[in-house]
Amino acid sequence: MEKEINISQASWRDFSQVMNLEKECFPLDAWPMLDVMGVLSFPWFVRIKAMEGEKVVGFIAGEIKKAKTEGWISTIGILPEYQRLGIGKQLLHKCEIELNVPYVKLSVRESSHDAIEFYKTMGYTVVGVWKRYYKGGEDALVMQKQFK
Ligand SMILES: CC(C)(COP(=O)(O)OP(=O)(O)OC[C@H]1O[C@@H](n2cnc3c(N)ncnc32)[C@H](O)[C@@H]1OP(=O)(O)O)[C@@H](O)C(=O)NCCC(=O)NCCS
Repeated sequence: MEKEINISQASWRDFSQVMNLEKECFPLDAWPMLDVMGVLSFPWFVRIKAMEGEKVVGFIAGEIKKAKTEGWISTIGILPEYQRLGIGKQLLHKCEIELNVPYVKLSVRESSHDAIEFYKTMGYTVVGVWKRYYKGGEDALVMQKQFK
């Protein structure tokens, strides 16, 4: 069955669903409550959700840093049963537009091959490595996309 997905701004009202989504999408790195509250409320974050009916099936947060010269994708997650439907692409694209900065960066576990492929498809390239950045000692790849 075709899924009808709506993309819109997220807010603190989505807190419990975003918490659940984080746990499902990031078994190793789910954010603690305070971080989720932060991205849903601080003004320097962009936050966008994908909904099927009343259910949050995808979420992205982006942060504007360094006097608006740089943006970071803080998190992006699509529920497993909703992946590969183009929802991540729509969320990332909208987030990039709203960040409206010369370049956007992100970090990703070097073993997250699917996510790395996704980011490459979206125009990001690897620009660095943060050694032992993640829980368990795994390295992070830093990826970047230039806009202006
Ligand atoms: C990575 C993630 C955000 C991608 O979202 P998505 O909605 O599944 O991706 P889309 O359907 O928009 O994919 C767009 C394109 O990216 C590429 N892509 C996406 N997932 C891929 C995968 N698993 N393997 C290879 N390429 C992939 C494809 O080119 C795809 O286009 P296609 O389906 O027409 O071939 C999603 O899989 C996810 O939430 N994963 C778990 C959490 C995570 O790893 N987040 C990122 C951590 S930094």
